[in-house]
Amino acid sequence: MNKNEIIAKQREYLWPSHLLYYTDPIPLDHGEGIHVWDVDGNKYLDFFGGILTTSVGHNNPKVVERIRKQVGKLIHSSTLYPNENHVNLAEKLAAITPGALQTSFFTTSGTEANETAVMLAKAYTGEHEIIALRHGYSGRSALAMGLMGQAPWRIGPTQIPGIKHAMNPYCYRCPLRMTYPECDVACAQDIEEVIRTTTSGRIAAFLAEPIQGVGGFITPPTEYFEIAVAIIHRYGGVFICDEVQTGFGRTGQHWFGIQHWNVEPDIMTMAKGIANGLPLGNTITTPEIADRLVDKGMTISTFGGNPVSCAASLVTIDAIEEEADPQHVAGVGGRLRAGLEQLWYKYPLIGDVRGKGLMQGVELVSDRDTKEPAVDAVVQIFEQTRARGLLIGKGGLYNNVLRIAPPLTATDEHVDEALGILDYAFAHVQESF
Ligand SMILES: Cc1ncc(COP(=O)(O)O)c(C=O)c1O
Repeated sequence: MNKNEIIAKQREYLWPSHLLYYTDPIPLDHGEGIHVWDVDGNKYLDFFGGILTTSVGHNNPKVVERIRKQVGKLIHSSTLYPNENHVNLAEKLAAITPGALQTSFFTTSGTEANETAVMLAKAYTGEHEIIALRHGYSGRSALAMGLMGQAPWRIGPTQIPGIKHAMNPYCYRCPLRMTYPECDVACAQDIEEVIRTTTSGRIAAFLAEPIQGVGGFITPPTEYFEIAVAIIHRYGGVFICDEVQTGFGRTGQHWFGIQHWNVEPDIMTMAKGIANGLPLGNTITTPEIADRLVDKGMTISTFGGNPVSCAASLVTIDAIEEEADPQHVAGVGGRLRAGLEQLWYKYPLIGDVRGKGLMQGVELVSDRDTKEPAVDAVVQIFEQTRARGLLIGKGGLYNNVLRIAPPLTATDEHVDEALGILDYAFAHVQESF
């Protein structure tokens, strides 16, 4: 099918509410490594990786081979029957996750992983109130939209009882109009006030992303999680760390984003980069917490622990270890960050550069003093970069943040090429601001 036929069918048979990137959408045809091609044969350097998902590149040969092998053996089992890939993956995740996290429940998406985490936290604590963060993104179920801290993604009536939203550590637009470090991380301290004034004083959990992904790669200061999690524990809650975007080495140096902040989650959720594009979500926790669900009732997942997805995940983790370990990501990510900071010096449109590893956000403003979000500039940068063969992402509550997150296998050469295209695009777009 050609591009027009695909887009015509999309418009006729898929809900119009599907969000499509670019005024003229790009139907993808195939991929290899860091590149994808559209159906017209145009080649793109993919610096968004299917929303931070293709950890080791498109169609990584090792992943493809392992999936092929498993498909010929057994495609489906359900969680009613143990299977080798399922248990081996659980063992591997217990080895690479921090602290006492050891026992897993697999599902098929980040949304389900978060649903499962909240269910578990409530069962474990016997409480039902949850503290989430403003600007957070948790998925698309009713509960996940209730946890969400961004109006545009909360479709319909999503007021789930018991969820309170604390201020997020958005230093560039501090909700308290303070400056770090003189602020003493007052946003984290305020969680205690939120608990004491808006809940029963007893909570089930605090759910947060180490770096807010869809929120625009908002990166908390060093002390944030130590302060926040200590408060949560004091009020009886557990810390659910949503690593759906930040997991699997994405932030460099460590396997999981939260390891930059010196705290150990009680429950961790993961998806996206876990299996290089096959649908898989996981909720991992400690044996003590998981045990509490045993006598509460029954739970299954039809597609949970799917042998093909688990095989894909096992080989993805191997490939990360071999081709793109967290040290590699720290190195290439450092180069990307330095290049983006150079662009900050050149182009006043860039208000802030933030993130860690290969998860870098660039917030665009029309005026550095007022910090007015430059939404049109994002649209123009998108068109300019696309025309020169670079795909990037966007996000942020104000829709003015570029999200730059290539597969972890990106090299210095890929980064230099992307920075060159961004430089060109900014030079062009800056003129009209
Ligand atoms: C941090 C975070 N949590 C949860 C989700 C939901 O994941 P999924 O789209 O796989 O349901 C997302 C998706 O973008 C996410 O970024």
